[in-house]
Amino acid sequence: MEEKINSLKNELDEVFLSFIKDKNEVKSLFDLDLLESKYLGKKSFIAQTLKNINDFPQQIKPLVGKTVNETRKKIEDDIKLLRDDFTKVEYDKKLREEKFDLTLPGRTLTYGSKNIISQVIEEIQEIFIGLGYEIAEGPEVETDYYNFEALNHPPDHPARSLHDTFFISENILLRTHTSPVQIRYMEKHKLPVYIIAPGKVYRKDYDVTHTPMFTQIEGLAVDKNINFGNLKWTLETLAHSVFGKDRKVRFRPHYFPFTEPSAEVDVSCNICGGDGCRVCSGTGWLEILGAGMVDPNLYKFVNYDPETVNGFAFGMGVERIAMLKYGIDDLRLFFENDIRFLKQF
Ligand code: DAH
Repeated sequence: MEEKINSLKNELDEVFLSFIKDKNEVKSLFDLDLLESKYLGKKSFIAQTLKNINDFPQQIKPLVGKTVNETRKKIEDDIKLLRDDFTKVEYDKKLREEKFDLTLPGRTLTYGSKNIISQVIEEIQEIFIGLGYEIAEGPEVETDYYNFEALNHPPDHPARSLHDTFFISENILLRTHTSPVQIRYMEKHKLPVYIIAPGKVYRKDYDVTHTPMFTQIEGLAVDKNINFGNLKWTLETLAHSVFGKDRKVRFRPHYFPFTEPSAEVDVSCNICGGDGCRVCSGTGWLEILGAGMVDPNLYKFVNYDPETVNGFAFGMGVERIAMLKYGIDDLRLFFENDIRFLKQF
């Protein structure tokens, strides 16, 4: 019996020696797993001996168990130490590889900005709110009555054909200007009236300076004792706020069916300083809006007394103002929504 134990001890010594030799070859956690399964796994000498312990005589079984377990414990302890070492080494390596470089520049978020047309509308609204005006609105799908008739364009008036109107039916159309808001507002309000009305308008037109949809701002001041001097001061104030105090402003006689007298308003060209260049077509002036004293005939449509009230009106194209203010030479840029263009403003 002693012989059996001694021979088992010898075998276990050999196993342990072999383990120590193999252990020195281990270079990674993966190698360590292989080592563990070779010496402690199901097919290992140790596991097999314990499994077949019944092959030993009854009396020495406890001793066999104790002997085998001593070696097993030594192997387990060694493997545990080694595993801790390798885990730490691999963790450190990972940390080194994945470390943050705090000197790298951050990733910036791209952000949008307000469309330039909205910016110009807001700027002009602010100026007029400062002068005591209110903001008004009207529908983009209009009737012939508000777009033309009540604005002094009777059915066969030649000025109608200047508008290149999109008709929806005989009497329904896409408004060609924001002027119908004048009529709609006066119909519903008593004096005094001080409004500006921004909005989209539509005309059958498409080239570098015309698009089928564009934006206008309408202005209307109706009260008692309003004269052309008030109109002139108001529009000069507008032009100087938008384009700068150094710009000259001039009124040129013009014709609009709903104002009398009527004028077109120009600012001096900032490219050539008034000498004449390509941008101002050699005139030294840039047209910015149309205006005039409200034709008393309009008051009949809204039940105001033409004998006692008077007022002025004006209308401007927002894209045109933006083009002149920012030096943009193609109207279509406003509608393409190219982020590189929009970002500049
Ligand atoms: N409605 C005109 C247009 O679209 C612009 C305009 C001119 C409006 C004179 C006015 C005005 O209120 O008085 O061309």
